[in-house]
Amino acid sequence: MSFTLESFASECQRILKADPGRAGREKVSDLVQEALKDEKFITAYVNDNTPDRQVIYEDAELGFCVCAHVNREAREANPHDHGSSWAIYGQAWGETEMSDWEVLEAAAEGKPGKVRRGQMYTLKPGMAHIYHEGDVHSPKRTAATGLLRIEGKNTAKMKRYPYKAV
Ligand SMILES: [Fe+2]
Repeated sequence: MSFTLESFASECQRILKADPGRAGREKVSDLVQEALKDEKFITAYVNDNTPDRQVIYEDAELGFCVCAHVNREAREANPHDHGSSWAIYGQAWGETEMSDWEVLEAAAEGKPGKVRRGQMYTLKPGMAHIYHEGDVHSPKRTAATGLLRIEGKNTAKMKRYPYKAV
């Protein structure tokens, strides 16, 4: 299947309009995995000129965003969730060593949440993973990575609380 940003985004919109819940996100995740196989589509958005984070499409009606990411330096992110949003990480190239974290104490204003590291797994090219609201995770990379990532809502516009590993 070959995609354009327009066809990909309109298919996401069709799916999420019919079911914004977990089943709909599973379908979007499947669609992301299909899109990751489309080299022409991926190369058009996830390339040498792509910054750390670029919103390439924001849906005016539903609010979901399609983001392109190229992360160039080795880094381990802090454990985080996406506030009131879900996200789907699609690995275009490189590898992400992901950790899931168990929330021991919820985060609140002025008080970081407490989390304990759980499962660790590697996102390899072609794989997609869904993080629902409140799912705490931390991506680590030892070399450059490229991602196609969907956010339920634009996370740049929302308040998020930090978590502390214990
Ligand atoms: Fe994340």
